[in-house]
Amino acid sequence: MGAGRGTWGTQFGFYLAAIGSAFGLGNIWRFPYIVSENGGGAFVLLYVFLVFIIGMPLLVGELILGRSTRSGLMRAIDIVIDEGPKKDNEKFFRFKWLGVGSLILCGIVLAYYAVISGWVLHYLSQLTVTAMTGSPFDPSGTLSFLLANGWLQVLLTSVHLLVVIVIVAKDVEEGIERAVGFMMPLFVVLLLVLAVKSLSLPSAPEAMRFLLYPDFSSLSMQSLGQAVGHVFFTLSVGFGMMVTFGSYLSDRVYIPIAGFRVATMDSFISLFAGVMIFPLVMVGIQPATGPEMLFASLPVLFGSFSGGLLFGFGFFICLYLAALGASIGLLETIVSNFRESLSVKRARAVWLSGGVCFLFALLPALSSSVFQGFDFGGKGLLEFLDGLLINWGLPVAALITSQVVLYKLSDLKKKAAFEDPGSEFHDTEKIYSHWIFALRWVVSPIVILALALQLLSLL
Ligand code: PHE
Repeated sequence: MGAGRGTWGTQFGFYLAAIGSAFGLGNIWRFPYIVSENGGGAFVLLYVFLVFIIGMPLLVGELILGRSTRSGLMRAIDIVIDEGPKKDNEKFFRFKWLGVGSLILCGIVLAYYAVISGWVLHYLSQLTVTAMTGSPFDPSGTLSFLLANGWLQVLLTSVHLLVVIVIVAKDVEEGIERAVGFMMPLFVVLLLVLAVKSLSLPSAPEAMRFLLYPDFSSLSMQSLGQAVGHVFFTLSVGFGMMVTFGSYLSDRVYIPIAGFRVATMDSFISLFAGVMIFPLVMVGIQPATGPEMLFASLPVLFGSFSGGLLFGFGFFICLYLAALGASIGLLETIVSNFRESLSVKRARAVWLSGGVCFLFALLPALSSSVFQGFDFGGKGLLEFLDGLLINWGLPVAALITSQVVLYKLSDLKKKAAFEDPGSEFHDTEKIYSHWIFALRWVVSPIVILALALQLLSLL
């Protein structure tokens, strides 16, 4: 979205870009495996509930913060602190560190996200070879080969990061994000077809019971933290990304409804991913858990019906594009914040941030080979990093962001975002007060409770 601060010409353009960045591996790869780790239906219910009571209010808050300051997170914080009452300045000084913290989070998340995107690339290449040579596709061989070859993962990760870097450096990410958004309907169709196929497996009733029947006794002390972290992750909230998105958002877009739509669509995609994956996991061909779950289970389905490989190929292309859209959003957030605070040339900022991400990525890329011996409470390095960032770092960042929006952004600016330009909604006052209530009395207590329970479970 350019060096100057333009706005998306149309509402539709914004939706495509926002959804293109929110959809991603979080929905298809991460959601099913954390649901399985947390015992199924009760966790799904908790997750959906949290999407609307904590994720959506914060998503709306970030978009408003970005649009009303026309800045990314770091400069937005500077602006709202400068505008605030003088004596508050010392008190809220620490908020400045939030910007830095969120950007570091973006960088580390991009690093391991790139590793998983590399896995997707590997499957794509294997499916292409299969299609060209007519040889059968070997799902378990593909996965074990990948996991055993750390340097192959490093190579695939660097290919992915290079693509992201070139797109962001050339400043064409807006176009690409939109293109990715356009692919989403196709992705949804493929996902639905594959979900229906999965539902025809004999294991489907048992899988649906697992996914949808809430057995609360299966939740653990860590489940709330995992649900909270995943809600923020999947909606791309707490990274400052939606602040950057908001800064490009035209005044004509009614943010509360935009937030609701993005949150609803994102949750549907995750639920369908669950419907697609669980019958496969329970069929017992591939006992699958942890980060490998999607990659171990899904290809089994492709071999089970005629034309399945073609579907598989289409699915992995869409998945790759979704991962690309999200990665572009992450790098763009780092770079635009970087450039707003320090005057660095775009290309230099992009290559520098991309290079640092690559260095970070070495750890997760080598987690199943060189660092195979790493074990933290039964978790490998990749899963440990993922949990540390998403279940701990992200809720803290999101909590601080909510405080900035709540206490530092002026009421006038917040209220203005709730005045509906299309006067589609009449009760804007009411929506505004519900939103403030949610930010103040729902988001903070739940996030603090989630962190406290996680801490307790560690002790
Ligand atoms: N929301 C993305 C997903 O679900 C991940 C992401 C987080 C992307 C933060 C951009 C910024 O995969």
